[in-house]
Amino acid sequence: MCGIVGYVGPKSTVDVLIGGLRRLEYRGYDSAGVSVISEGHLQTRKKAGKLVNLIGEIDSHPIPVSHIGIGHTRWATHGAPTDGNAHPHLGGTREKLSLIHNGIIENFSELKAELLAEGTRFASDTDSEVAAHLIAREYDKAGDLVVAFRTVVNRLHGAFTILVVHEDQPDVVLAARRNAPLVIGLGDGENFLGSDVAAFVEHTKRAISVGQDEIVILRAESVEIIGFDGKPVTSEEFTVDWDATAASKGGWPSFMAKEIADQPQAVADTLMGRVDSEGRVSIPEMDGLSAEDIKNIDRIIIVACGTASYAGDIAKYGIEKWSRIPVQVELSHEFRYRDPIVTKNTLIVAISQSGETMDTLMATRYARDLGAKVLAICNTQGATLARESDATIYTHAGPEVAVASTKALVAQITAGFLLGLYLAEVRGATPSSELQKLGRELLRLPAQVSEVIEGLDEAKALGAAMASAKSVLFLGRNVGFPVAMEGALKLKELAYIHAEGFAAGELKHGPIALIEEGQPVIVIVPSLRDEDSLHPKVISNIQEIRARGAKVIAIAEVGDTEVGQWSEHVIFVPETEQLFAAILTVIPLQAFAMALAEAKGLDVDQPRNLAKSVTVE
Ligand code: AGP
Repeated sequence: MCGIVGYVGPKSTVDVLIGGLRRLEYRGYDSAGVSVISEGHLQTRKKAGKLVNLIGEIDSHPIPVSHIGIGHTRWATHGAPTDGNAHPHLGGTREKLSLIHNGIIENFSELKAELLAEGTRFASDTDSEVAAHLIAREYDKAGDLVVAFRTVVNRLHGAFTILVVHEDQPDVVLAARRNAPLVIGLGDGENFLGSDVAAFVEHTKRAISVGQDEIVILRAESVEIIGFDGKPVTSEEFTVDWDATAASKGGWPSFMAKEIADQPQAVADTLMGRVDSEGRVSIPEMDGLSAEDIKNIDRIIIVACGTASYAGDIAKYGIEKWSRIPVQVELSHEFRYRDPIVTKNTLIVAISQSGETMDTLMATRYARDLGAKVLAICNTQGATLARESDATIYTHAGPEVAVASTKALVAQITAGFLLGLYLAEVRGATPSSELQKLGRELLRLPAQVSEVIEGLDEAKALGAAMASAKSVLFLGRNVGFPVAMEGALKLKELAYIHAEGFAAGELKHGPIALIEEGQPVIVIVPSLRDEDSLHPKVISNIQEIRARGAKVIAIAEVGDTEVGQWSEHVIFVPETEQLFAAILTVIPLQAFAMALAEAKGLDVDQPRNLAKSVTVE
């Protein structure tokens, strides 16, 4: 997500801010900017694109020396990546306040309406600028920046780390955090703020993690932390054990390892603002499709490629089950060049992390020419696919740098399930009480994903131990089948070995001929709790392959006491709704593939022959 740097001290602030933003580039971004106070005046420079563009802007519009400021790299969530939407944002008619923000302000629309009613003029489409104007307005009333800041942050819902500087107070940076990261760097006669320690680790390794709903009052010689309630907060200092090079990946050995660990947040951020505590689903982005449009949909065709197509395969089970709309999933490049039946009542759902995959763009353009409406599920704000669709549900997985997709996948599945619940509610296809129960179950997923990630050691150890494997097979039924396909793809693209996923029920129709002594087979086992569970059938499949020499690794639900007697290893995942288990069971497969590739000494972030976004057909 966005990168944040704050500084007060004797060094050249622009140098500290740019250096910190450079260390945060691993987080991915699409614009950057700084605000500093120099010679008593607020100076702001910001540009779309990479840091080099911002540096060019500063070179062509030099800033006098400064000793206080804030810097930001933005990963667009609200508003396309443009100069105007880049942070910092100025607040108030006097434009003496500057703000940077990481996160999503869920209630920004109502707050913006309040400001518009007072005649506030906005320079951007962002939720962040709303906060800047609110704080400036409160400051003009209160005359006290901390009071104004605290008043406003208490009104904001969602996830935010916010930093503010004001020309009238040229010695202090204020910061607040709720559901987004913020750390303090403690120096000698200087102090720092960052979205993670990479922002300042080259200057100091003394740090404090800022807690939930806390405000930081940062000066060169002092750091004060209070709660949103204004009461003082005690905090604990720690020492950063990274070296600066590790900081380029946020301390992780690879982007892939970081992004696997990001998955609880990716699911949580994709759910944020779309499921309330009762489990009711709302998707404001769907407003472009009227209830009438939705009731008239007689078929959904999901178009995507690679991992995104498996997200579609998984989402299909939920969308079809709850909304009773027939769903088919098509590889974009196949859909485009066959003569599909598409009418004005066909809804095309295009799933794409990058939003730039040419195969998928070509498929959606073709479908639109045939009169269909297109809904995108996309992880990149303002991407071509989003611009060319009737509506876009953004996944908020944050930038995915590793070529092999992980957190984008679980976010895509989450968005697909949200879509299914939403369509079912609008069409009245499933009782609201049942849909809300499912919605509440979705809200439990981030914690369940965290639990899976905390327990990945066994999957990694098994992967590392199989570095010499020549082939691994993956089996699954129902949503376990696309999970098996995704597990095989991860292994192919990371470890360059043959891997094949297939439906467990398909075994006897041919693939069982592949089984020989010692053949590793990973089996995704459904819960045995459900009355219509496919568990017994999958156990039979495991028995069939073991009888022929297979070595079985099972991914099963905690409490499954049967599967262990038929498997060499069992990796357990938490109990959850049958279809949601796909999000949990895919994660050990990601870790398995990554560890096996690492054991072979391969680059898990940039596998051979692959690109992160395939922008040609
Ligand atoms: C996933 O691990 C692969 N890198 C690839 O299959 C990818 O999912 C596919 O190219 C689709 O990309 P998109 O989501 O950006 O459209």
